[in-house]
Amino acid sequence: MPNSINIESLIRENIRKLTPYRSARDDFDKGLLLDANENSLGSPIRNSLDLHRYPTPTHDGLRNKIAKWRHVDYENIFLGVGSDEPIDLLIRIFCEPGKDSIIITPPTYGMYKVAAHINNVAIKEVLLDELFQLRPQEILNSADVTTKILYLCSPNNPTANSLKLADMVKLAASFPGIVVVDEAYIDFAKQESMAPLVQQYPNLVVLQTFSKSFGLAGIRLGIAISSPEIIRVMLQVKAPYNINKLTADTAAKAFENLPLVKFNIEKIIEEREYLADQLRQIPQVKKVYPSDANFLLFKINDAQNIYHKLADKGVIVRYRGNEPRCENCLRLTIGMPDENVRFLKTLKSLIT
Ligand SMILES: Cc1ncc(COP(=O)(O)O)c(C=O)c1O
Repeated sequence: MPNSINIESLIRENIRKLTPYRSARDDFDKGLLLDANENSLGSPIRNSLDLHRYPTPTHDGLRNKIAKWRHVDYENIFLGVGSDEPIDLLIRIFCEPGKDSIIITPPTYGMYKVAAHINNVAIKEVLLDELFQLRPQEILNSADVTTKILYLCSPNNPTANSLKLADMVKLAASFPGIVVVDEAYIDFAKQESMAPLVQQYPNLVVLQTFSKSFGLAGIRLGIAISSPEIIRVMLQVKAPYNINKLTADTAAKAFENLPLVKFNIEKIIEEREYLADQLRQIPQVKKVYPSDANFLLFKINDAQNIYHKLADKGVIVRYRGNEPRCENCLRLTIGMPDENVRFLKTLKSLIT
């Protein structure tokens, strides 16, 4: 059953009343262009991108490519400066500072909390259970009239597992606000993306990124996939030229080499399984959590000490032992095959 929620009524009043900025390129992009105070003499860099001109505000060509790839329509796609931009933008659109709240489900990605703090929006925490799965009824119970957004992350960072699809669908159908599912790691997962479900659930926003499976963290390109109603407001509130020409051009080129993207995903999954298997054979490693991502979470005796000792040897992992239910846990990004071997060798040298 689709959620019968009225999206318009969730939007902050000042945003509902907003007259969006109209940029020069919204009106004309051909002709003798003397309208945008660009440098008509050109940039010092010679390439075909006309870098002295502002980019298109909406990047329709790239949005179309992404829409086809994710089996949704062009008007379901918003492009952001990483997925960190839509995480913040959604709070700015739906949450009144000093009044409204969001729900997060720790242990999870830290930016939802930071974005809420920056916007002076309250945070309600509903912990994942011992298997790092959602507690849907507790989430619904903790929502009140001030609660505008629920942030879920699947596969979840730092726990690496996918959340149960049935729980997320149930929440999309019944949560009295916007349900964001951050799928930064979805291409490493066995579970299907929720992206096509935005056609059914108007309050669902799926976040994806070029930073992980595409290996393009440096270009800062994130995607929000949602109902046309929500995407339209996001386009109105974003900075006029948020995605630059170099980023859009690089992303378009990446689509010309999808077989390599797929190959790298498979290689990372293969290395992940090898590393998990090797870690399980180390007696001091108490648990290696199942992973649907490009990293592993594992529990090891004296994790903080091991973390520092690894760093002293130039092997850098992330200590996650301060997160709820993650006592003595380290998070390990899957590296190149030789890097993974070096990691294992160094770890073993420290504990035996
Ligand atoms: C769950 C999750 N979402 C979003 C991001 C940030 O992605 P982006 O590089 O697109 O801003 C990360 C980065 O580690 C992440 O773990």
